[in-house]
Amino acid sequence: MELFEAVKERRSIHDFNRKRIEEEKLTEIFNIASWAPNHRLKEPWKVMLFQEKGTEKYANLVIQSYINNGLTEGYEEDKQEKMMEGIKQFLLNIPHHALIYMEKDKDLLRYEEDYAAVCAFIQNVQLIAWSYQIGVLWTTSPYIHDHSFIEGIGLNPRDHKIIGVLQMGYPKTIPRSKARSSVPIHFVKRALE
Ligand SMILES: Cc1cc2nc3c(=O)[nH]c(=O)nc-3n(C[C@H](O)[C@H](O)[C@H](O)COP(=O)(O)O)c2cc1C
Repeated sequence: MELFEAVKERRSIHDFNRKRIEEEKLTEIFNIASWAPNHRLKEPWKVMLFQEKGTEKYANLVIQSYINNGLTEGYEEDKQEKMMEGIKQFLLNIPHHALIYMEKDKDLLRYEEDYAAVCAFIQNVQLIAWSYQIGVLWTTSPYIHDHSFIEGIGLNPRDHKIIGVLQMGYPKTIPRSKARSSVPIHFVKRALE
């Protein structure tokens, strides 16, 4: 696949087949993605992949986070249960949830460099996956900031920052592309006076 084509035609996927991606292929995708630029060669990205029975653990923690943060408040009990069961089933139907995180550097500049590098890594993952006809949705739902969720997955909110969760699988449907605007570029060609 041509690079331009991959960049323009990759779409965020919201609807996946149940078929799992082979572990060797996932490993390859993340390893190629690690050629992303990263300052001081810190390779700050870390991946926790929830799949098979592991998805249940992830889904339960997500639901607990929604409940703790008041998502179900104001609804009748049976309505709450239905809502949470719906979310759980939705998450269980997604073959892979790749939680991407990094260690928090105490130095703000380095923290920002690491965060930026992990974002570049994630876009690499999306493009490489796309070249294998694998779909990704980059998500940043509020629970990635929820300390009890972070602890629940075995990380420490003081030391770890979750950048996002990538839902991954073979697409069932591919949405139409949304047009992009031209980039406002301000060419500065004169010396400052
Ligand atoms: C940092 C970041 C966070 C995102 N979080 C979400 C999300 O939580 N839920 C979602 O449906 N899409 C999320 N997206 C996907 C964007 O909505 C999507 O990229 C945008 O609609 C453009 O669609 P495209 O990727 O198909 O071009 C996120 C994208 C980025 C870069």
